[in-house]
Amino acid sequence: MFHTEDGGYRALLMRCTHKGVELRVTGDRLECSAHGSAFASTGAVLEGPASSPLRVLPAVERDGKVFISLKA
Ligand code: FES
Repeated sequence: MFHTEDGGYRALLMRCTHKGVELRVTGDRLECSAHGSAFASTGAVLEGPASSPLRVLPAVERDGKVFISLKA
């Protein structure tokens, strides 16, 4: 989960869109250690072989807690 420029939150599904490997956070990037794809904190592809962005999950803060929607 990342803070957004407007003070909100952005949650991303941490699975590469290429072959589903769990991503690791490196600075402000998300990377696949198996094949090298990299994604920005927006979910956009920075480096392949992945060609599709990460799934962004709606996240809202309410009463000091952050709620993430897992619905499609
Ligand atoms: S699973 Fe996508 S680059 Fe590794």
